[in-house]
Amino acid sequence: MRLLLVCLGNICRSPMAEGALRARLEQSPLAGRVEVDSAGTGGWHAGQRPDDRAIACAARHGVDISGLRARQLQPADFGRFDWVLCADADNRRDADRLAPDAARGRVSLWLPWAGLEAPAAIPDPYTGGHAHFEQVWQLVDAAAVGTVRRLLHDAESGIIGA
Ligand code: 4NP
Repeated sequence: MRLLLVCLGNICRSPMAEGALRARLEQSPLAGRVEVDSAGTGGWHAGQRPDDRAIACAARHGVDISGLRARQLQPADFGRFDWVLCADADNRRDADRLAPDAARGRVSLWLPWAGLEAPAAIPDPYTGGHAHFEQVWQLVDAAAVGTVRRLLHDAESGIIGA
């Protein structure tokens, strides 16, 4: 199973999401069986480390995301990944526009996909402060837990192979 987490810049929300999900997967029976990556619908920050506030927030939660580098979402990603999971509705719209017709059913908002009832979107913390980044962490970590639960359920149902 391969999951791609998508936001706008790939320097705040999706790198935090990637870090939280990698950490939750490592602690689960799915360790080593799920590939996780992240990308941004925009390319302005390509090649950059995550935002310092995102790195600091993840570090406070014991997760090191300083080695991640931003990249822009590409059409080829829809062939490489089973799911393209988006932080908000704008990201989803932009990903949908880039996706081949056959892949559009595998583009989703991440939080509802992961079983969270609300909110549906991860708010952009870029112009905010530490409290906004902390709020993002709480959401991405809850979605990471929900993702592990969904994938374990799918594995038990035989939807994904052993
Ligand atoms: P992200 O946050 O999409 O969570 O990585 C943003 C990063 C950069 C910008 C906007 C949002 N920007 O406008 O450059």
